[in-house]
Amino acid sequence: MELRKRKLILDVDTGSDDALAIMTALLCPEAFDLLGICTVNGNRPVENTTENTLRVVELLGAQTPVIRGCASPLVAQIDPLRSRRRRLEEGRDADGDLVAYHAEYLPLPPAKGSALPGAYAPIWYIDTLMRQAEKVTLVMVGPLTNFAIAYRIEPRILDHVAEIVIMGGGLYEHNSTAAAEFNIFTDPEAAAILFECGEQVPLTVMPLDATHRANLRPCHAELFKSWHTAVGDFVGAEICERIRAYNLLQPLHEPDIAPIHDALCILYLLDPSIITELRTVRADVVCGGIADGETVFDTRHFTDAPRNCRVCLNTNEEKFAQLMVDILSRAKSR
Ligand code: RIB
Ligand code: CA
Repeated sequence: MELRKRKLILDVDTGSDDALAIMTALLCPEAFDLLGICTVNGNRPVENTTENTLRVVELLGAQTPVIRGCASPLVAQIDPLRSRRRRLEEGRDADGDLVAYHAEYLPLPPAKGSALPGAYAPIWYIDTLMRQAEKVTLVMVGPLTNFAIAYRIEPRILDHVAEIVIMGGGLYEHNSTAAAEFNIFTDPEAAAILFECGEQVPLTVMPLDATHRANLRPCHAELFKSWHTAVGDFVGAEICERIRAYNLLQPLHEPDIAPIHDALCILYLLDPSIITELRTVRADVVCGGIADGETVFDTRHFTDAPRNCRVCLNTNEEKFAQLMVDILSRAKSR
C-alpha cells in the first residue's frame, strides 16, 4: 500500500517508550515531515522530558525543533480530595537496585542544543497549525495538556488537523489505578477536551488493550546490542530496563516482555494492519472520584452521544516487533 507523506507533530513525555516512538518517526522521512516535537510533564517533570527529547533527536542527528510544554496538568492536582492513588513508578529489585519504567534522564549524552527559545507548546501549536496549507497529523503519547490549552485558545486549529492519534486509556486494561491509564489519569480534563475534538476530526485512541501487545523481548534487546553502536546500545538497554520494570512492578500476560506503548501509534500510521481489532465508539473520561481518569468506551450499538473516536483493541505482536526492528535497523550504524 503506497503511503502518502504526511506532516506530523509529536507530543511526548520522554520517557523510554516515547524515545522509541520519536526514533521510529525520525527514521521514516519518506512517511513523515516532522514539524516539531512538543514536550509535557508526565513520566518525569517537563524539564526532564524536554532534555530527554533533545537527547533522542541528537542521537539520530536530526534538526527537528523541540518545543517545551506544560509543567503540570490543567486542574487535576488542585483538588486534594481527588483520588490521586497511583501505581508504583519505580521499585527496588532483589539486589536493592533501582528499577523504573523511565529514568530521570535517558542514558544518552547531555543535549548540546535546547528547546525552541521563547516558544511554548500551546502557543506553538496555534502559530504552526494556523499557517499550514496541508492538514497535519498529531500523535500525542503523554498527558494531553498542551493541545487542550491550544484548542481552548483557538478552536480553529482543528481546521488544520488531518487526524489525531493518542496513546492512552484502557477498555479492560489499566495501569495507574484500577480504572485509569497513566496519560489520561495525569490530566483527565485535558483528555476530555481531546475527546470533544474527536467529534470534529478523526481521533484514534491506542489504549493499553492494544499496547500491551506491542512488545519487544530480550531477543530484540540482544539484537540491538549486537550492533555495538550508540543507537543499538541505547535501544537494547531501554528494552532491558522496561522488561525489568514490568517484571517487578506490573507483570503482564507473560514475563520478560516490554510494551513499547508510544511507538505503536507511529507504526499504526505506517501500517494500519498492525491493529487487528478496531471499533468506532463513543469515548468519555471520568474526572474526579474513585474512577478518576477512567476512559469510558461506549461500545453499544446505540450510544448515548455521538461516536467520537476509533479505539484500537488488539495488535499483531509479531508484525509490531518486526516493523520496529526493520525501522530501527535504518540507524544500525549510528
Ligand atoms: O500508560 C503508558 C503511557 O504512560 C506511555 O505513554 C508511557 O510513556 C507513559 O507516558
Ligand atoms: Ca509517553
